[in-house]
Amino acid sequence: MERLQKVIAQSGYCSRRKAEELITDGKVFVNGQKVTELGTKVTNKDIVRVNNLTITREEHVYYVLYKPEGYVSTTSDEFGRKTILDLVPTEKRVYPVGRLDYDTSGVLLITNDGEFSNLMTSPKHKVEKEYQVKMKGLLRREESKIIARGIVIEHYKTKPCSIKDVVYNTDNETSTATIIIREGKYHQVKKMFEAVGHPVLKLKRVRLGIVTLDGMRKGDIRLLKPYELKQLRELGNS
Ligand code: URA
Repeated sequence: MERLQKVIAQSGYCSRRKAEELITDGKVFVNGQKVTELGTKVTNKDIVRVNNLTITREEHVYYVLYKPEGYVSTTSDEFGRKTILDLVPTEKRVYPVGRLDYDTSGVLLITNDGEFSNLMTSPKHKVEKEYQVKMKGLLRREESKIIARGIVIEHYKTKPCSIKDVVYNTDNETSTATIIIREGKYHQVKKMFEAVGHPVLKLKRVRLGIVTLDGMRKGDIRLLKPYELKQLRELGNS
């Protein structure tokens, strides 16, 4: 027996809080009966419908994809571009946890566990995200410090972060660097370097918590290991 709001959230339909709202708003039916009571429990045999859609309870899966450039991190694309689902070997209704840009490569988690996805993308979640960045121009020490202290991008001040392994290529006036952030605002890394005058030419997420790309090639996908899942969950709840 599971609480109705948990079953709805676990199906990936929405967050638990939203599920509670849908229940109290009278949008949820169990075996054809409207249920507005939040404490209601259901079994695997009960048929749950939300907004006229039957909720299916699938076993949860958790993958790590080495996303190549040239794929969108959504489950469909209005311009017909390739999506990351083209690389996922499952019939389950999975989706990416957060986003990487079309031209960004690297670690991307894929799941059908709505609660895990909400936990990972919550602003309170403090998992480290490590990126390798190639940018235009030579990144000066002072510019690194400005980014590391926190910089205003549009109307938002980024949290302190770290920048290391800065290497210059004076032949073509570019730099490479590693940046570790604990946030995930839209286009955040690109905007941070752009703000100090260094447009990003190439971006790769090499690590998320303890999840790395070790032993993987672009386009490879593997199951998340139980200890990796445990660490990501713990970071989310800390
Ligand atoms: N920051 C970006 O700018 N793009 C990404 O894809 C990820 C982080």
